[in-house]
Amino acid sequence: FDGKVMVTGGAGYIGSHAVLALLDAGFDVVVIDNLVTGFDWAVDPRASFVNIAVEDAGVRNVIREHEVRAIMHFAGSVVVPESVSNPLKYYRNNTAATRSLIESAVAEGVPHFIFSSTAATYGNPTKVPITESDPQAPINPYGMSKLMTEAMLHDVSAAHPLNYGALRYFNVAGADPEGRSGQSTVGATHLIKIAVEAATGKRAAVGVFGTDFPTRDGTGVRDYIHVSDLADAHVAALKQLIAAPAESFTFNCGYGRGFSVLEVLDAVDRVTNMTIERRVEGRRAGDPAELVADNSAILAALDWQPKRAELDGIVRDALAWERKLAEMGK
Ligand code: UFG
Repeated sequence: FDGKVMVTGGAGYIGSHAVLALLDAGFDVVVIDNLVTGFDWAVDPRASFVNIAVEDAGVRNVIREHEVRAIMHFAGSVVVPESVSNPLKYYRNNTAATRSLIESAVAEGVPHFIFSSTAATYGNPTKVPITESDPQAPINPYGMSKLMTEAMLHDVSAAHPLNYGALRYFNVAGADPEGRSGQSTVGATHLIKIAVEAATGKRAAVGVFGTDFPTRDGTGVRDYIHVSDLADAHVAALKQLIAAPAESFTFNCGYGRGFSVLEVLDAVDRVTNMTIERRVEGRRAGDPAELVADNSAILAALDWQPKRAELDGIVRDALAWERKLAEMGK
């Protein structure tokens, strides 16, 4: 593979892990990130770094100067409730910014594009596990902003020599097992992140958002995927796009099993050997009862083997990173 992979949002949580996986697999990487939510210290020093927004016209220069031959696009806004109160932020940062980025890619002849999509495109699923052909019916602007981007990629790939892989993430959690990166997001809303923050004293307790869902214990069930397995899936997806340049694909990224909120908190208690306080609260707006991936399509199509599906291992890695953040004073 001649040239570099440009990783947008490479200073953020998932992007920084993709950078590690790419570098470990022997790819050259240039990160672009405007550091609105990411951190420059999260970018592995083996990668080049440019502080620029994805929608900036200067991205075309970055593509030329670094001979970019593939783009992995992680940059975006990700907080579902915020997307409900401020939808235009999501249509700007996710949909419109990505339109500009794709335009830069097409103008510079970049042949491969990998996009961070989400299970939020399914809305309230009609069944679980969810397959890729199930109805796309987002229930919030976040999911819609991502679905609109999938539609753009579909149309652009038909009109221009660019193939793409859209990966619909389920619930991403954990941290690099070697301790090189993790979730450093300020004001995170994700369950496992919140729970390990409670374990390290950053917060007093964990709220349980709803105990009356039609699930085995009444709390929400999610398919938690280790961020390093997800990063490996991106490398496998890139290799597939390179091997079959006329084909594009859209895959769920999950393990095909779910854990309830209480099961996650039990795992955190086990791993920390603590009893973290739980406070039962009402349901959060827009939370579906259960999101679990049918992952048979990605398993069949890509050279990807999940290695870190064990829940306690995901929690252990998240906790180790949280302790490291505390040591670093962050
Ligand atoms: N939850 C709690 N307490 C908390 C945080 C979360 O009980 O403090 C519950 C939620 O109600 C839900 C589950 O834990 O049942 C997981 O919630 P997260 O906030 O960790 O994740 P979500 O499932 O809401 O959202 C994630 C991503 C979204 C994406 C969605 C699609 O953050 O970007 O998955 O699957 F859209």
